[in-house]
Amino acid sequence: MSGFGPTEVCHCRFLSFPNVTVKNIYFQPAGTVWGTMTEKGTPEATDAHEVYDRMAASYAETNPENPARAGYEWPGVREILPDVEGERVLDAGCGSGHYSAWLAERGASVVGVDASESMVTEARERHGDVAAFEVADLRDPLPFDDDAFDLVVSQLALEHVEDWDGAATEFARVLGEGGELVASMDHPFTTYFVIDHEPPEIGSATAQNADYYEVERYERDWGEVTMPTYRRPLREAVRPFFEAGFALTDLREPLPDTDVEHHDYFEENTPRFLAVRAGLR
Ligand SMILES: C[S@@+](CC[C@H](N)C(=O)[O-])C[C@H]1O[C@@H](n2cnc3c(N)ncnc32)[C@H](O)[C@@H]1O
Repeated sequence: MSGFGPTEVCHCRFLSFPNVTVKNIYFQPAGTVWGTMTEKGTPEATDAHEVYDRMAASYAETNPENPARAGYEWPGVREILPDVEGERVLDAGCGSGHYSAWLAERGASVVGVDASESMVTEARERHGDVAAFEVADLRDPLPFDDDAFDLVVSQLALEHVEDWDGAATEFARVLGEGGELVASMDHPFTTYFVIDHEPPEIGSATAQNADYYEVERYERDWGEVTMPTYRRPLREAVRPFFEAGFALTDLREPLPDTDVEHHDYFEENTPRFLAVRAGLR
């Protein structure tokens, strides 16, 4: 899925490896997909934040108005956000800071973190007057004290992280008692169905086969860039948070508004995004 590509949903360039799962599919910097699952001799995989580094300026310029964000993912997230007035909010995987600024403008004290230095630079330049931004990787311990925040917001960033146990544990640590999490992600059903069953024009996955129960790395073809992403079953989208002490308090599968590309498909077949709210027990 490409809910947040620079400008548009791109058509797939499918690989022709009929019986191969997508645990590891690698690409050359030019964006030409060339590898497949390997047990040995795995080439160095590019990290998503390195790709975001290359597209930070165009992302900052176009993403907030992208219909898949403005008319689909964001309304689903906004519906389940608590009142943030006076709250200490961590925006985890903040990108160019658009949503950090929205939260800050509603009275929150916001820190945004992102592994992409270029994204953090964009965020500081655009929204540094209302929120603080730091480079931090969600695969590592977060550079904050225990109980530093009341709310963690993370929109469409976790799908670039393979292991969610560490991130969930860190979110719980930096949140105090009663802390909450609001996160959006690619819907696990959509990433599975689009890879495994659906026509190329519906998604941008460069893979053809998926094993529903596995956490699998695959690539998305966004035209100018190819983006490393992980898909996972529904259980793996919630288990790390349950084990870190969160209880689910809301879950949304938003419907697209009429401006979204492939509107009919996402209205009739499978939801593209999942938004969850959870609180520390
Ligand atoms: C689709 S963008 C979302 C940005 C922002 N949350 C928004 O909604 O506009 C995904 C972001 O995740 C960041 N990201 C990817 N891998 C990351 C990691 N391991 N740690 C922190 N951020 C990461 C990328 O750099 C990128 O800014």
